[in-house]
Amino acid sequence: MDDGGLLRNLWGLKPIILTSILLVLALRIMVVLWWRPRKIEYHFAKQGIKGPPYHFFIGNVKEIVQLMLKASSHPMPFSHNILPRVFSFYHHWRKIYGATFIVWFGPTARLTVSDPDLIREIFSTKSELYEKIEANPLVKQLEGNGLISLKGEKWAHHRKIITPTFHMENLKLLIPMVGKSVEEMLDKWDQMMWEKGGGGEREVEIEVSEWFQGLTEDVITRMAFGSSYEQGKAIFRLQSHQMLLAADAFQKVLIPGYRFMPTKGNMKSWKLDKEIRKSLVKLIEKRKLENCNTNINDNNINMGNNIGSEEVGVGGDGPKDLLGLMIQAGMREDEKNNNNNNNNNNIPEINNSSLNNYAPQLSSTNNKNKITVQDIVEECKSFFFAGKQTTSNLLTWTTVLLAMHPHWQDLAREEVFRVCTSRDIPSKDDLAKLKMLNMILNESLRLYPPAIATIRRAKYDVELGGCRVPCGTELLVPILAVHHDQAIWGNDANEFNPMRFSDGVSRAAKHPVAFIPFGLGTRTCIGQNLAILQSKLVLTILLRRFSFTLAPSYQHAPTVLMLLYPQHGAPIVFRQLSEHDKETGPGCRVDQVV
Ligand code: HEM
Ligand SMILES: *[C@@H]1O[C@H](CO)[C@@H](O)[C@H](O)[C@H]1NC(C)=O
Ligand SMILES: *[C@@H]1O[C@H](CO)[C@@H](O)[C@H](O)[C@H]1NC(C)=O
Ligand SMILES: *[C@@H]1O[C@H](CO)[C@@H](O)[C@H](O)[C@H]1NC(C)=O
Repeated sequence: MDDGGLLRNLWGLKPIILTSILLVLALRIMVVLWWRPRKIEYHFAKQGIKGPPYHFFIGNVKEIVQLMLKASSHPMPFSHNILPRVFSFYHHWRKIYGATFIVWFGPTARLTVSDPDLIREIFSTKSELYEKIEANPLVKQLEGNGLISLKGEKWAHHRKIITPTFHMENLKLLIPMVGKSVEEMLDKWDQMMWEKGGGGEREVEIEVSEWFQGLTEDVITRMAFGSSYEQGKAIFRLQSHQMLLAADAFQKVLIPGYRFMPTKGNMKSWKLDKEIRKSLVKLIEKRKLENCNTNINDNNINMGNNIGSEEVGVGGDGPKDLLGLMIQAGMREDEKNNNNNNNNNNIPEINNSSLNNYAPQLSSTNNKNKITVQDIVEECKSFFFAGKQTTSNLLTWTTVLLAMHPHWQDLAREEVFRVCTSRDIPSKDDLAKLKMLNMILNESLRLYPPAIATIRRAKYDVELGGCRVPCGTELLVPILAVHHDQAIWGNDANEFNPMRFSDGVSRAAKHPVAFIPFGLGTRTCIGQNLAILQSKLVLTILLRRFSFTLAPSYQHAPTVLMLLYPQHGAPIVFRQLSEHDKETGPGCRVDQVV
């Protein structure tokens, strides 16, 4: 009876409890969405840093979308001054507030930082004060929760495991296979020329960005899966299907909890997820078996020092691949735990490298660093995402640039014929000698950097360039704007002039870290060597067989959707080089142009 009375009393309290909960919630919302942004705005305004005013909840997103839609509604003239079109909101507000301003992505403030000295501070000299930001869950689903987004110890562990894949000695083993893929692609173009027929000049119009994507996908598959190329291809097919679904869901981000709803797309995505995992597990088991068979007496694995040894389970001298290295690292952990430190000779000694500071746990026997199947799945996704569109966009823009500037195309071709005298696929040494092509690629990366910006977050209250930046503020580094800055690159900043790189990167600009297409510091792009090697190889083989110009239908419309890409594609007309050109090289000499 007493209990009943108590209960009744509690019931009587219910409305009060409910209202208090609601009140607290409302207060919290007001703090996060209104009061805190106001405080931050005031904090920066006091230090002379302004920006477009914050709007409740959405910040400046509405203006940003409007500016971007307006900019991308028309193609632009054939000029390389692409900042206003590609990065319209930055361009617009920089004119009003100066290069350093605050812009609101929802209730999150981003401070733009374009001074190379401060960029160096963020990425390298004081990088411990800054971290990568947590990606939106959908973006994460797209890019995978791998190297790109991991943080702290786990990142350092994975980076260390994967790095040997990208050593030049390893990459060079890829050259014959990639070269073959390129030649096959060009053979198909040849075929298309024949089919178009007509006795006259043989030419064909190709939308290069699609072809280059297919090619890079092939290369990435080999990097990730090595000898298990065919199975890898199948897994990547599933992944790209899943990415399409995620990109689709991306447009519905405003529905809360959407990604947990059993919609048709989500069900499909979950099914794909299961399938991907099943295929990978199967593949991993197979690889582990192979590994045991080929490496019975190979216990002395030394991560920093294994070039030339054959310990990776690809059966001999094939390149080290992501899958092999991750499986092996996982097996090493297992072995270490089994051995219980009895047998010190078998435990791989990992030498100090710059990474070691961030990976103190590598040699301890806890299971925190265990490599799981999920880890491998996420790294595969990361590779696929980070490697495919970036490199193919570099190839696309470089081809467009060479089509726009025939003088430079001739110069590049002249060098290719001079250096690569054999008709075979060029060797690594040949490629290293192609200085002109290197300069052209760098100039292409400067004017059209595939990744136009990157973001960090202040982990603490920090001071940056004399400005007090509160903990949690995000820093937006507009790579594209730094690359087009006339104060850094001179008056011809918006012109295509590969010559500026003739004395190396550090002499090309007024500041040594003004060229950052691959980022900087510890989180710099792991695939840089691969991207450059592959691009050189493709362009070399291409220049040797064809000359090319922009198709009449080409519209110059660089735009950005995560990466910089041609909004209306990149149709290019390819012509077979005459026999005369092939024998002597084209008639154009360096001194005629420069
Ligand atoms: C032209 C081609 C490429 C460009 C312009 C490019 C650009 C970049 C940039 C700017 C970053 C740093 C991002 C940041 O600091 O927030 C990065 C990181 C990364 N890139 Fe690339 N990338 C290219 C090709 C590749 C390739 C071929 C791969 C390999 C499969 C790759 C894998 C990665 C990975 C895994 C990271 C994260 C590294 C880490 O945080 O430890 N990239 N890339
Ligand atoms: C690195 O490892 C090799 C082989 O284990 C060893 O000979 C060498 O002394 C190590 N270097 C350092 C700096 O620890
Ligand atoms: C390895 O790095 C740690 C931490 O930076 C340092 O204390 C240690 O002396 C280094 N060891 C060697 C052999 O360089
Ligand atoms: C091109 O840039 C890379 C850095 O991204 C640099 O290592 C290379 O030396 C540069 N090449 C030239 C010719 O400037």
